[in-house]
Amino acid sequence: MARLVIVSNRVALPSEKAGRAGGLAVALREALQRRGGLWFGWSGETVSGTPGEPELLQSGKITYATIDLNAEDYHHFYIGFANGVLWPLFHYRVGLSEFRRPAFEGYLRVNEIFARRLAPLLQPEDLVWVHDYHFVPLASELRRLGVTNRIGFFLHIPFPAPEVLLTLPVHQRLVRDLCAYDLVGFQTEDDVRALQRYIVDEAGGTLTGDGGAACFGASTRIGAFGIGIDTESFARLAEKAVQRPETTRLTDSLAGRELVIGVDRLDYSKGITQRLEAFRELLSRWPEHRSRVTFMQIAPVSRGEIAQYRALRREIEGLAGRINGKFSEFDWTPVRYLNKSFSRSVLAGFFRVSRVALVTPVRDGMNLVAKEYVAAQDPKDPGALVLSRFAGAARELKDALIVNPYDVDAVAAALHAGLVMPREERVQRWRRMMEVLERNTVGVWRERFLGALEQAAPG
Ligand code: F6P
Repeated sequence: MARLVIVSNRVALPSEKAGRAGGLAVALREALQRRGGLWFGWSGETVSGTPGEPELLQSGKITYATIDLNAEDYHHFYIGFANGVLWPLFHYRVGLSEFRRPAFEGYLRVNEIFARRLAPLLQPEDLVWVHDYHFVPLASELRRLGVTNRIGFFLHIPFPAPEVLLTLPVHQRLVRDLCAYDLVGFQTEDDVRALQRYIVDEAGGTLTGDGGAACFGASTRIGAFGIGIDTESFARLAEKAVQRPETTRLTDSLAGRELVIGVDRLDYSKGITQRLEAFRELLSRWPEHRSRVTFMQIAPVSRGEIAQYRALRREIEGLAGRINGKFSEFDWTPVRYLNKSFSRSVLAGFFRVSRVALVTPVRDGMNLVAKEYVAAQDPKDPGALVLSRFAGAARELKDALIVNPYDVDAVAAALHAGLVMPREERVQRWRRMMEVLERNTVGVWRERFLGALEQAAPG
């Protein structure tokens, strides 16, 4: 079996506190441990001069190699281009995307540095698996250095329709770089079609059937590989978590009220503002829920260096405060808003005791919270999932209450429907969703991608 090399911006080092590593990190680590391999990425540190050689750490059959980045390069790469341009654009927020050439040049520079530091660590048969929008140009840079290994790319976030992508001044360069990979994996067929449409309509390329594409003088394969979770272990975690002190404290604090839960990074793609408005609408339109339902939104602060994220934080604080000001009683606060993160096992317990989960991103590659919420439910008395049609997960979880997150009235109505849904219907919907999650686990996703990469023609 070929050795596996994973490249991602953040690396889940073995020192990461037990229980904090997400399901994806665990699944990737598992593959590295089985095949033997290397996990290469950013150390999380910036330096003022030129960064040195990668720091290597051996743990079992896995070598972790992390590099520092020059502070200015990091700023252009991470804040300026990856999260200032690609993130908003790929989430269809064209107006938030602020393209500047110095940022793009910094993005390319960091990809070049990554390639130069990674290339000497590669062995001839290694399978290289690059993750996410931070590293679109990495395969091109590696090829320039003479690397002929099979290189695959998986995009965790959505890939935009050509009409949106064309607003990016360097769209052609970006797609040319994508085509330098031997395999490009997306979350959904919609993303696949978006790239295929660009290739045919904008780049004059051809599709060769069975996922093949020829463009910019290269040939690649494109496919949908929707990411899953470790369904069984998350379900077990949730079952046990019911006994955890945090879960007991939470249920005690509710004093018999129903809990509605939202868990997201504090990001404008997650639709938290519209969701709060929908909750306010629920309380206005169905006053019977007042004093009977509590909405807990967990939203750890993310990318706080970026102005739009800070503005969003202020907006949400204002909205949550206004809802509480308007509806609170001396013994009931409708919205609990927490800028905190919790371990997976605490979250699993919180999911299990929630009657409804609101997963209403305005755009999301997949959304694993939706899947984890379903996996965490009590099979005999499961909760209901309200899910945005714009999350990749909606393609699989068809038995959720699917909503348009921009339609505040409709989200409020779906939330009401979830709260009053008879147990029998909840059980039926949950069973069908659980079957999907049991079929497409994170392990299945990983092996499907690696299998396809092994089949792809190298170089
Ligand atoms: O969803 C994309 C993603 O990059 C995830 O891989 C990551 O967990 C999350 O966003 C947080 O991103 P950041 O590394 O910017 O904190």
